[in-house]
Parts: sequence; C-alpha cells; structure tokens
Amino acid sequence: MMYSDKVMEHFRNPRNVGEIENANGIGEVGNPQCGDIMKIYIKVEDNKIEDVKFKTFGCGSAIASSSMATELIKGKTVEDAWELTNKAVAEALDGLPPVKMHCSVLAEEAIHKAINNYRESVGLEPWEMKTHSECIHEHVHGN
Ligand code: FES
Repeated sequence: MMYSDKVMEHFRNPRNVGEIENANGIGEVGNPQCGDIMKIYIKVEDNKIEDVKFKTFGCGSAIASSSMATELIKGKTVEDAWELTNKAVAEALDGLPPVKMHCSVLAEEAIHKAINNYRESVGLEPWEMKTHSECIHEHVHGN
C-alpha cells in the first residue's frame, strides 16, 4: 500500500492533537468494523472555529486525515467547517488508498457531531448528518 508524503508527514507529526478543556462542542465516533475511535473538540467563538483538537485510537490514515481536517477547519465559520468532506481531506493529503478512504470519514463525522453538539448547546437545531454508503461497502471487506 502506497501512502503520499503528506499522509506520512501528518501521521508522523500530527497537528492539533489533544483536548480543549473549555470546548463548546465535542464529537465522538467509532468505526464498528475496525474498532477505531475518534474524538474532536471545538471551541466556537463568533460563529468561527477558534480552536480544534482531536484524540484518536485509530490507524495512521485516521490520524493523518484528522490532522489535516483540523487544519482545514481552523478559523472557518461553522457553516464552512460543516461543508468539509472526507474527499476534500483526502485530496489535501494528495490521496489515500481506496481501502483507507473510510478512515477519513471518521474525522468528518466527528467534526459534524462536534458542530451539532455546539449547535444544540446554544439552542439551535442540529443539522442532518450525512450517510456514507461507500464506507459500508469497504467495511464489509474488513478494512
Ligand atoms: Fe480504522 Fe483506519 S480508522 S482502519
């Protein structure tokens, strides 16, 4: 399996690892097939992602995707952060092997849960979570 230099670099030197003590949005997701877990903390101020950190018990691709995803949403509005797709994260990493695409979904879903957690905490309706049918297919094959 071939990983891009960017994936290797973010895996070896991940950005924004840790937790935010006064986070106002937290999202945690697990991948039932591989058992990996992702937790994302966001600090929203004036509708902007002022800070974001992540913790994961996950594979190298999950670490690299989360590192890149946190970099991409930092400083963005909540709406723009919501629009970040796992495909955009994979592109920013110069690609992920197809069997590893589902690992980038973990980061996207954890960000969405954190944003909805924030929205509910300020009395807003949560946005509808996306479903990722392509991952279910990959999970069937045990990746
Ligand atoms: Fe579980 Fe990558 S997130 S194998």
